[in-house]
Amino acid sequence: MNVLLIGSGGREHALALAIAKSPLLRALFIAPGNPGTEALGRNVAVDVANHAAVVDFCRLMKIDLVVVGPEAPLVAGLVDDLDKTGIAAFGPCKAAAQLEGSKGFTKDLCREFHIPTGAYERFSDAAAAKQYVRAKGAPIVVKADGLAAGKGVIVAMTLAEAEAALDMIFGGAFGAAGAEVVVEEFLEGEEASFFALCDGERALAFASAQDHKRVGEGDTGPNTGGMGAYSPAPIMTEAMNARVMREIIEPTMAGMKARGTPFKGVLFAGLMIGRDGPKLIEFNARFGDPETQVMLPRLDEDLLPLLDAAAKCRLPAGPVKLKNETALTVVYAARGYPDAPERGTEIRGIDRAAVLPGVTITHAGTKREGGRLLANGGRVLNVTAMAPAVREAQARAYAAVDAIDWPGGFCRRDIGWRAVKG
Ligand code: AMP
Ligand code: GLY
Repeated sequence: MNVLLIGSGGREHALALAIAKSPLLRALFIAPGNPGTEALGRNVAVDVANHAAVVDFCRLMKIDLVVVGPEAPLVAGLVDDLDKTGIAAFGPCKAAAQLEGSKGFTKDLCREFHIPTGAYERFSDAAAAKQYVRAKGAPIVVKADGLAAGKGVIVAMTLAEAEAALDMIFGGAFGAAGAEVVVEEFLEGEEASFFALCDGERALAFASAQDHKRVGEGDTGPNTGGMGAYSPAPIMTEAMNARVMREIIEPTMAGMKARGTPFKGVLFAGLMIGRDGPKLIEFNARFGDPETQVMLPRLDEDLLPLLDAAAKCRLPAGPVKLKNETALTVVYAARGYPDAPERGTEIRGIDRAAVLPGVTITHAGTKREGGRLLANGGRVLNVTAMAPAVREAQARAYAAVDAIDWPGGFCRRDIGWRAVKG
């Protein structure tokens, strides 16, 4: 098969590593890719926002499957435009990507199809939202409806914070993404992520993971795209996975189909596991970053036929074969991330780190310049290690971090604390 992979992050490097291993692969192209994906296929400068250019490239290169990494092209309808020309794509069409693109859309789907989630209301003006917030009391959660680069959720511990969040969002802080707001019940419990491959009809449980969203140790400081992850999440036992499939994933698939917008691709459920079971916090319509970096190394079968089957509505009955090992990723970020990451600092020693036992290094915001590897983004490298148990995976990952010479970078030193403690 000829495959075009879209994206440039650590997630896409991890996807490229898995796809490149497939005996079914003939050629892999990555648009735009990064210095890590260069070794696995051909990085190409196709403008992903120009759907006609993507279609032309696919025709020229006889692409059999397009795999879309990030959410923006999904929400922009890239898969719809590929579908129209008969090019198979892994990822949902625009209407189904609303599961990530609009929090209100997802909450209404939950209400209609009895999917467990926090109580909520949708608002399009601040006065009515504030009245609701005062009636409900704090803590309470205020969310911009649309995509806001992970910054559109405010967990307000006081009424004053909730009202300030509403003023900020309705004041235009997130542009059109904040024209509508969801105000939601504060949920207590432990967060976990669960991923299912979907082909429009059926869903196949894939794997669980836990992310570390805050920039600082002990889960402090501002939210980020994710500072590290591990898989599996110990709280996601076989029984809990089955319950999430039955109570959340399958009703979502049925609901999306009933609405005429079947979901295909990967459904990423952000969950709160509380006393009365799992509740949906949010859906994403794509693989997670850095969750992908910890899930794919555990896969004990070929990824490519699974992605292809999801795109072509013929997923096998399952289950997906996973190694009974834990993978843990530490995100190595540029100093100043997430507010103002410093660019251009030099990274040395990656090759030395990559040969340590169980270790894989994936690139995100890097660039090569005159034989040197430089930081070129916020999250720059992902240092992943596999081991039979999480404690050992953690030790291996940090040994690899320490083998990298990058004074311009920093990482959290406590990735995996929840699992190690348990
Ligand atoms: P989201 O972007 O919806 O994943 O939200 C970002 C983070 O806010 C989540 O990972 C949770 O830590 C927190 N959060 C979102 N919704 C709730 C909720 N209803 N109750 C408690 N925490 C929440
Ligand atoms: N790591 C969270 C995400 O990919 O959205």
